[in-house]
Amino acid sequence: MSINPLAQRRSFLAVLSTLPWVGSTWAQGMMSNNMSAMQGMGGMAGMMHGAAASTALAPVQAIAAGAPLAELKKLVNTSIQPGQFRATLRAAPVSAAVMQDGTHTVFWAYNDSLPGPLIEVMEGDTVEIEFINDLPQPSTIHWHGLPVPAEQDGNPHDAVPAGGRRWYRFTLPPDCAGTYWYHPHPHELTAEQVFRGLAGLFIVRAKNDPLKDIPERHLVFSDLKLAADGSIAPNDMNDEMNGREGQFALVNAQRQPLLNFAAGGRERWRIWNANSARYLKLKLPGARFTLVGTDGGLLQKPVPGLTELVMAAAERIEVIVDAPQGAARVGLVTEPVERGKMGMVPQEHAITLLEVDFSAVKPDQLAALPQLPQALRRIEPLGTVQAKKRVVFSESMSMAGGVHSMKFLVNGKSFDMKRVDFTSKINEVELWEIANESDMDHPFHIHGIQFQVIERERDGKVIPEPLLAWRDMVNTQSGETVRIKLVQRHKGLRMFHCHILEHENAGMMGQVLVD
Ligand code: C2O
Ligand code: CU
Ligand code: CU
Repeated sequence: MSINPLAQRRSFLAVLSTLPWVGSTWAQGMMSNNMSAMQGMGGMAGMMHGAAASTALAPVQAIAAGAPLAELKKLVNTSIQPGQFRATLRAAPVSAAVMQDGTHTVFWAYNDSLPGPLIEVMEGDTVEIEFINDLPQPSTIHWHGLPVPAEQDGNPHDAVPAGGRRWYRFTLPPDCAGTYWYHPHPHELTAEQVFRGLAGLFIVRAKNDPLKDIPERHLVFSDLKLAADGSIAPNDMNDEMNGREGQFALVNAQRQPLLNFAAGGRERWRIWNANSARYLKLKLPGARFTLVGTDGGLLQKPVPGLTELVMAAAERIEVIVDAPQGAARVGLVTEPVERGKMGMVPQEHAITLLEVDFSAVKPDQLAALPQLPQALRRIEPLGTVQAKKRVVFSESMSMAGGVHSMKFLVNGKSFDMKRVDFTSKINEVELWEIANESDMDHPFHIHGIQFQVIERERDGKVIPEPLLAWRDMVNTQSGETVRIKLVQRHKGLRMFHCHILEHENAGMMGQVLVD
């Protein structure tokens, strides 16, 4: 039986908007059209059963703002062999006072560090990481976006039990320099482990990087949702539906830090959207961004003149930022991104993520900034398609069971560890069509490779992708079909999923077996 998801969503909203705490005018507007949908339903009790009640949250001022932007802590390489990186990552609870009043919060962290330490290696390096799981749950480390063999990629089938340990070993191929990250991926526990603090950074450097002389800045955007008592707040129904967004939008785990811009007037920013769900629309008034890289590294040539940067959850980019003329202090803000949120969505506002202080910049330096190199890297377009796959994202809701009956589906099905959804042949060029037939945006991700976006189709109009780039994330808007090309280079089982982690947890994930 096929159920019209839109009709379902509307009746769902109608139920919600009868609750006293539903304030959204949109939801109320929907209600007037949908009163009839109330008939024949199980009523409020059934609806709300199982949904966590909203917890009282700490006020945004509970975490102090304005400290100098912290540099990311680096994971120290304990190997003395050239071309080898060896280290230990231990996931464990750690208590830290992030609130101004000294209240402690118990996070789960890699090596007691928030965010997890930065791993920096070169293309061609061999990486050996011993993972120690001192969490009270099974876990894995997934190397998001990296071209590592399936059995080293921390997928849900290879969970390390609580108290256990294992080695991850892989050798990075040539031409994979880029901006990656790592996070847990155990079955149905990924979202929780990430929102408790488990996520770290991974940079693969190129032997010859044409932008290496520009001072580099690392900005990791992540979310934190704290209850008034300082504990990590559980998900409420809104989080389960739309993906969790905390009241704190952090940068390198700090609230509104101060970035002292380089005296030379130009910086290269690597930006990670490490949020569970929050999309970013970054603006730095007066400044222009030049996009130079995506998830999988540099573009062929720079894309100058951008005034905003939109990033879906889990995306990474590299941009060159030139100081605006005569600027003193400017806030980097993120504006709300319309992504089809459902239910009682509170009014959203722009958030100042950090302050940028340009006072050190010398005006004569600004005038003397050289042109950026126009050839950054060679990207070969993937060739003739040898196989095709079609992925349909959809939602379904049953009115009876509360939040746990809300489903986010791939090709009409919920994720099943025992089901292989697709098979692929190693080294074949595949065209994947991702059709978003739901009411929300979903950022698509697939493990083990970088892909090329070919085109997007909306309302019957096909828009060829203007940018030839390597990515492991692409947003799919509600009603949109996105076509990508990819080649799997390793055998084994790979996951693909929506990277709103609550949706992934709720079933919006599939498996492809490469042989
Ligand atoms: Cu960022 Cu399946 O992962
Ligand atoms: Cu991944
Ligand atoms: Cu999603």
